[in-house]
Amino acid sequence: MASRILVLNGPNLNLLGTREPDLYGSQTLDQINAQLASLAQQRHSTVSFFQTNHEGALIDRIHQARADGTDFIIINAGALTHTSVALRDALSATSLRFIEVHLTNVHRREDFRHRSFLADLAVGTIVGLGAAGYRNAMEFALTDGSSA
Ligand code: DQA
Repeated sequence: MASRILVLNGPNLNLLGTREPDLYGSQTLDQINAQLASLAQQRHSTVSFFQTNHEGALIDRIHQARADGTDFIIINAGALTHTSVALRDALSATSLRFIEVHLTNVHRREDFRHRSFLADLAVGTIVGLGAAGYRNAMEFALTDGSSA
């Protein structure tokens, strides 16, 4: 079980709640994160949250995770998922286990969203379940996160 979990969100995910709610739902990122914090607290685990609109900042935070005791990462990299070899390399460099989450089912959307630079490095991916995808990823991290 992972006891120190890092939840990363990339570009535009700070706009959740008001951004295309038909696609992304009406919950804000703060509301989603509060649910994740509560799940972690129930299991006596620690969770940290980081959202940024900047590729380099996301990469820096992933580098930091190598040294700060992070056991497991849950990441929705937004559009960087489909574009960033640098982000892929950062995740690869940490050797940390991670789940890739997308609120929408990217495979039912435009072709350019079908490719992920992260997916083959991930323990798994969760797409199309809205905010429940983050909670399911957290549940996994809190239970089988270090063994599967
Ligand atoms: C997203 C899907 C991406 O294609 C998009 O660029 C996002 C959000 C999702 O959560 O469904 O910003 O990662």
